[in-house]
Amino acid sequence: MSIITKATGKAIGASLDRLDGPEKVSGTARYAYEHHFENAAYLSPVGATVAKGRVTQIDVSEAEALPGVIAVITNETAPKLADTSDRELAVLQSDEVAYRGQYVAAVVAETFEVARHAASLVRVSYDEEPQDAELRWDRDDLYAPEVVNPAFPTDTEEGDFDGAFASSAITLDETYTTPTEHNNPMEPHTTVAIWEGGDLTLYDSTQGVHAVRKTVAGVFGLDRERVRVVAPFVGGGFGSKGLPHANTILAALAAQMVEGIPIKFALTRQQMFTGVGYRTPTIQRVRLGADEDGHLTATAHDVVEQTARIKEFAEQTAVATRTMYATQTRRTTHRLAALDVPVPSWMRAPGEAPGMFALESAMDELAAKCGLDPIEFRIRNEPELDAETGLPYSSRNLVACLREGARRFGWEGRDPSPRTRQEGRWLVGTGVAASTYPVFRMPGSRARIRYEEDGRYAVEIGAMDIGTGTWTALAQISADALGVPIEAINLRIGDTNLPSASVQGGSSGINTWGSTIFEAARVFRERHGQNPSAGDEAEGKLPDNPEMENYAMHAFGAHFVEARVDEDTGEVRVPRMTSVFAAGNIINPKTARSQFLGGMTMGLSMALHEESMMDPRFGHIVNHDFAEYHIPTAADVGEMDISWIEEDDPLVNPMGAKGIGEIGIVGSAAAVANAVHHATGIRVRELPITPDKLLG
Ligand code: MOS
Repeated sequence: MSIITKATGKAIGASLDRLDGPEKVSGTARYAYEHHFENAAYLSPVGATVAKGRVTQIDVSEAEALPGVIAVITNETAPKLADTSDRELAVLQSDEVAYRGQYVAAVVAETFEVARHAASLVRVSYDEEPQDAELRWDRDDLYAPEVVNPAFPTDTEEGDFDGAFASSAITLDETYTTPTEHNNPMEPHTTVAIWEGGDLTLYDSTQGVHAVRKTVAGVFGLDRERVRVVAPFVGGGFGSKGLPHANTILAALAAQMVEGIPIKFALTRQQMFTGVGYRTPTIQRVRLGADEDGHLTATAHDVVEQTARIKEFAEQTAVATRTMYATQTRRTTHRLAALDVPVPSWMRAPGEAPGMFALESAMDELAAKCGLDPIEFRIRNEPELDAETGLPYSSRNLVACLREGARRFGWEGRDPSPRTRQEGRWLVGTGVAASTYPVFRMPGSRARIRYEEDGRYAVEIGAMDIGTGTWTALAQISADALGVPIEAINLRIGDTNLPSASVQGGSSGINTWGSTIFEAARVFRERHGQNPSAGDEAEGKLPDNPEMENYAMHAFGAHFVEARVDEDTGEVRVPRMTSVFAAGNIINPKTARSQFLGGMTMGLSMALHEESMMDPRFGHIVNHDFAEYHIPTAADVGEMDISWIEEDDPLVNPMGAKGIGEIGIVGSAAAVANAVHHATGIRVRELPITPDKLLG
């Protein structure tokens, strides 16, 4: 028997404005840095200027002499942390330097300006050691991690790939690369830390208050109850705020040192390029084989990517290839190079975003070799079952997305030959690519519901809204779960004083927290009925979904892109993009559209703009600001046609909703590359597609 009950209310599916909109536009919504304290002090860090070695001496005399400076912290004066096993978080605990920019000191001062100036006066001497920060596929020290993020097998093998590939009628063997990219939410990583009487309070810009509490409590050896983390509003996350990084620890460490003085620490935009995670660069070899009819006989996806010597992060780049298409044989592998670099981490759709650029570019290339339309080629290789698990899909509507997208975009009648359409200097082409994202559910969330004096239901859960619309969507879900109008809901999220909930990541928020709220509502009604008294309350914890054992659960999508390439300059414009998604029931069409739009724009950005340039001689990201690290502005984004198909999937959760935060970016860079190829006849396999790659 299924434990799932379907929502019957009316709030889910309504295109509500954001409930937090008025607070945000009027400036009363408090972000981390905006929590004000009379006696606050400001922190500015000092970053290592070498990529590897030891600090031999730190001269703080000039910095300390500056009026307004309260303290200068170094590895010799910093309080000792209780747990230094996570070397990314072992801030100022030794003289060792493991990457360029790593914190080697910090200044606390009465103003931000004084702190920053004083930080520039701290003189640090190093014993520099040879460093190694260059990712290459032919390194002899590549290794296989035990698992790839978060817990997928590193390698998979189905059937005899080598034999099948060797005897395939049509084959493709190409290498695709994606660069390092840095998360740059509008709000930088920011913390206000207050240490008072053994209690630590953090106003932190994070994707998970409970995750920060757990980690920080462990690092400092505090009982979890002594650490409170507050984050009602967050100005974007994308993954870099999914885990606390060294900046949060440094703020807490400084607060401990000057107990009683609130410490404010906001990274500058340049500091965002060190130490808060980044998308690892990848080198991906894709081999595909097909028979004369365009059925895949062999698929291999072999990935080389980087991690840090001090802590492993293994991006799951080839994982989507395990589920996308039917193929007679399949092999996927991941290998890592451990370098003297900051620790890579999550960035919107880690794994799927770079991996599907390679696979969906390769599918476009092989379709052409097979003489098939790229949509028809994908439909021909649509699988019956999920090859990774052998399970049926709870719902899989990739084909419907491709067909609906083709209709909306006007794909029919497209001449498949490249470089056949020109308007003045502009070469015009169109491209398509598929998208997918798994339905993740994180363990361990709880929600509490209480009927209050004012006749409303307080729904309390330590969940997050990083700008995605959770405030509104969870209120809608709460209303339907309790069978009351949305006005009767008083949602509370973003504080560790609320019941423990998972990180906002992996597009798992609505699935996890919505299911938890449904369960809490069920318990509440069971205990207190339809007419509760003020003060009645109940808690529920995320129930198991037994259907996850029986079905593979993924969202799908299809992107269509028109690209125009200036024949003389190589400039690429994307005047329009059509994307269709199959992501289950949509909780709020208005906020959902923004999620898809943001993902698609980030994919466009990945295709054309974003690239963090590492100078391997210094282990330094050279273009560490918005003058040189390009992201799209409004003028770079053309018409974005966004829609979704009706998909009824009662198996995923009571809302029937799959995650939508990340699927927009997946495959979109490949759709751009495929359109650029169609326009120019030039296949760019190395992101981003900059003008130099399209000239000569
Ligand atoms: Mo997202 S990269 O799962 O925070």
